[in-house]
Amino acid sequence: MPPPKVNHVGSVSFVIEIYPPKKQTIDPLSTIHYPLFNMRAVCWQSANKVEVETVPDPKILNPRDAIVKITSTAICGSDLHLYAGMIPTVKKGDIIGHEFMGEVVELGSKVNNVKIGDRVVVPFSIACGSCFFCSRDFWSLCDNSNTNAWAIEKFMGHSPSGIYGYSHLLGGYAGGQAEYARVPFADVGLLKIPDGLTDEQVIFLTDIFPTGYMAAENCQIQQGDTVAIWGCGPIGQFAIRSAFMLGAERVIAIDRIPERLQMAQAGGAEILNYEEIEVGEALKEMTGGRGPDAVMDAVGMEAHGQGIEGLYDKAMQAVKLELDRANVLRQVIVACRKGGTVSLPGDYIGLVDKVPMGAFMNKGLTMKSGQTHIHKYLRPLLDRIQKGDIDPTFIITHILPLEQAAHGYKIFQQKQDNCIKIVLKPGLAAV
Ligand SMILES: NC(=O)c1ccc[n+]([C@@H]2O[C@H](COP(=O)([O-])OP(=O)(O)OC[C@H]3O[C@@H](n4cnc5c(N)ncnc54)[C@H](O)[C@@H]3O)[C@@H](O)[C@H]2O)c1
Ligand SMILES: [Zn+2]
Ligand SMILES: [Zn+2]
Repeated sequence: MPPPKVNHVGSVSFVIEIYPPKKQTIDPLSTIHYPLFNMRAVCWQSANKVEVETVPDPKILNPRDAIVKITSTAICGSDLHLYAGMIPTVKKGDIIGHEFMGEVVELGSKVNNVKIGDRVVVPFSIACGSCFFCSRDFWSLCDNSNTNAWAIEKFMGHSPSGIYGYSHLLGGYAGGQAEYARVPFADVGLLKIPDGLTDEQVIFLTDIFPTGYMAAENCQIQQGDTVAIWGCGPIGQFAIRSAFMLGAERVIAIDRIPERLQMAQAGGAEILNYEEIEVGEALKEMTGGRGPDAVMDAVGMEAHGQGIEGLYDKAMQAVKLELDRANVLRQVIVACRKGGTVSLPGDYIGLVDKVPMGAFMNKGLTMKSGQTHIHKYLRPLLDRIQKGDIDPTFIITHILPLEQAAHGYKIFQQKQDNCIKIVLKPGLAAV
């Protein structure tokens, strides 16, 4: 295995973290501020299997690290791709989860922006704050946080930032569905939460609210525009509300799960159930034949395909001829009006098949995408929450003890029990 590259400007030298460490050493003279017990954490086991295990507590490895005692953590649609076994280089025992917040319990010597005891939220992407990309507000493209960049560069050309609990390709960082987590570059990543706001109001600043918001910004909305959004999961829901905040006149939301469509409608969207209607035709009809000004794929690589196309994608994926199912990506390109914008917050990891590039090129479309630059949106969206522009708690359908994570993953993946978004709480008693 080639050595990891530390070839970038402006970072402290990086310690490669292999997680969870094989064995814990307890130093009786340590002055750290949290108990030295082994913690509980959600660990990936194999496709469609996670377990809560006892693992070593995290430690400060670099002067810019903090240790956060987690009070709330959420399961993301992106975690479902891990859960399904679709993300390469996840290993048995890896601690997963990238949406988490809590209390600072230990600080490296170079972290001066927060104090022990502060309540903080943690952006899901890890960013140094000083490289070429961070200084241009492209935080999820940070050049200094993926310790295994060399591996991903082989097939993507360049590496995005590291992400908590999201495979060894993205840095091998221990995730936040746990009692504690190590936060690298804590001096730029942590947002202190003002008093008076509950965890449930602010936890989604870690990912899904900024992701929906950036996806709506990527639609390049002009006053009066119509935006069509495929996928009414948490990302689609925040995208609907953000599109209205950014001036869309109409939002049309597409899914097949009744409670998700209902929630989209409650957010002001017109809704289409793709199992009951031909979506492309319906969109033309609803827009006087022109098509939506912007379209959004808030579904990504696990799109549920229909008919022969659906079977084709599943077969291609099974024999590894395509990694991602591009069903929705194909639809959004064909549905978009000429000269319109395609926003792509849905996650893709590798190669897609039969994408209608002819339509994309000849209709003069623009595509905007990316992992969300969370750091850029933290304060502006916290302001919106404080002003009452949005109450992000609308999305929560389940609050479960961390210990019930396996059940949470199952009902979220299988859309059981009307599940739309789960918050896990370490220490919450089982009900
Ligand atoms: N860009 C980022 O930074 C970022 C951040 C978080 C999540 N994501 C990605 O966004 C996507 C959505 O996340 P989520 O949390 O909302 O996930 P989710 O799985 O809860 O929601 C996806 C929704 O898409 C619907 N769907 C499936 N096939 C469809 C089809 N053919 N047409 C219309 N709808 C369809 C499903 O019924 C479901 O409601 C995922 O791919 C996730 O990985 C990206
Ligand atoms: Zn997420
Ligand atoms: Zn950076």
